[in-house]
Amino acid sequence: MDKIKVGILGSTGLVGQRYVSMLSSHPWFEVAAVSASSASVGKSYREAAKWVLDKDMPERESEIRIVGAKPTAMKAEGIGLVFSALPSEVAKAVELEMAKAGLAVVADTSAHRMDQHVPLIIPEVNARHLIALRGQRKNGKGFIVTGPNCTTIGLAMSLKPIHSEFGLRRVLVSTMQALSGAGFYGVPSMAIIDNLIPYIKNEEEKIAQELLKILGDYKGSFSFAKIKVGASCHRVGVLDGHTEAVFLETVKNASPEGVKECMRRFEGEPQKLKLPSAPFPPVVVREEPDRPQPRLDRLSGAPERAKGMATVVGRVRAESALDNGIKYVVLSHNTIRGAAGNAILIAELLKAKELV
Ligand SMILES: NC(=O)c1ccc[n+]([C@@H]2O[C@H](COP(=O)([O-])OP(=O)(O)OC[C@H]3O[C@@H](n4cnc5c(N)ncnc54)[C@H](OP(=O)(O)O)[C@@H]3O)[C@@H](O)[C@H]2O)c1
Repeated sequence: MDKIKVGILGSTGLVGQRYVSMLSSHPWFEVAAVSASSASVGKSYREAAKWVLDKDMPERESEIRIVGAKPTAMKAEGIGLVFSALPSEVAKAVELEMAKAGLAVVADTSAHRMDQHVPLIIPEVNARHLIALRGQRKNGKGFIVTGPNCTTIGLAMSLKPIHSEFGLRRVLVSTMQALSGAGFYGVPSMAIIDNLIPYIKNEEEKIAQELLKILGDYKGSFSFAKIKVGASCHRVGVLDGHTEAVFLETVKNASPEGVKECMRRFEGEPQKLKLPSAPFPPVVVREEPDRPQPRLDRLSGAPERAKGMATVVGRVRAESALDNGIKYVVLSHNTIRGAAGNAILIAELLKAKELV
């Protein structure tokens, strides 16, 4: 089978590097163009990227020359699908331009997540929302599909089975978010060593809005789930992996054992379709009292290709201060499952559904 040629926008950043690494051995996709800011255009990927991953930069991709974030540059390489890891303020116009030129855009950026016709997808949770693209794809038109914020992904993966089984009335979450979530130049070391920062701009609003769109319905337009959501977001001195303490109220009475069981049983379309990057199981439930921990659990996920794709839950217990209260801790790798890995899984789903 010929591989589908793909481009990466923002390829030199922390998320972009994950794309390059994960796509270098992908069975369906092949990186044909890498793009970055004008300061990097014309350099080889090796010269332009400040590589931070503990896996070596892949040889083939390291030789590719950086091009500008223009549809013409993508089309010149025979590309029909681009992944976008651009800064959101840049992404707004560029992603639209790409889609208008007929390209399928799978984005990690917040620029179009809440747009009326843009599906916001976690493949295990709301793959059915992709029907919103059917009309747009007619006549060779392009489209934008996005993944949610890196904090929302682990949260939504853990909540979906509970919502399906017991119904959710209220969700409160307190996050401990990794440094890589802020990008390469995000948090100065002087600000975070021996410290934490109890504020992440716009993050709390994003979690609430995105979660309700993902858990909502699509019938010609998106409707939002009716769940009360509150978040408090904090940056901590962890390199990768967002940890979240979740407190919730269910509609039907739920025991901790019942919650763990429904999480363990949970699977979505990626598992049913056996997509290459699908983790088995998508939610790993641990019983130890002191897990999950970012350093130990962020690369959870089987098989090998799905490392970092599983959401890890632990400390599931009852919370008597709430009505039908449950609380637990959830962990998810922010640049893998929370960004590039989720987007690659979306692209695999698009291919399985013949949308690319
Ligand atoms: N980090 C995470 O965990 C995470 C998770 C989910 C979503 N996201 C989202 O993903 C996006 C990328 O995040 P990141 O953490 O990878 O950021 P980053 O490390 O700062 O990387 C930004 C990338 O965009 C390129 N770029 C900057 N300005 C540009 C311009 N004007 N035109 C074209 N390219 C430009 C940079 O190229 P140069 O190297 O040439 O500067 C670099 O490749 C953001 O929208 C972020 O919100 C991040």
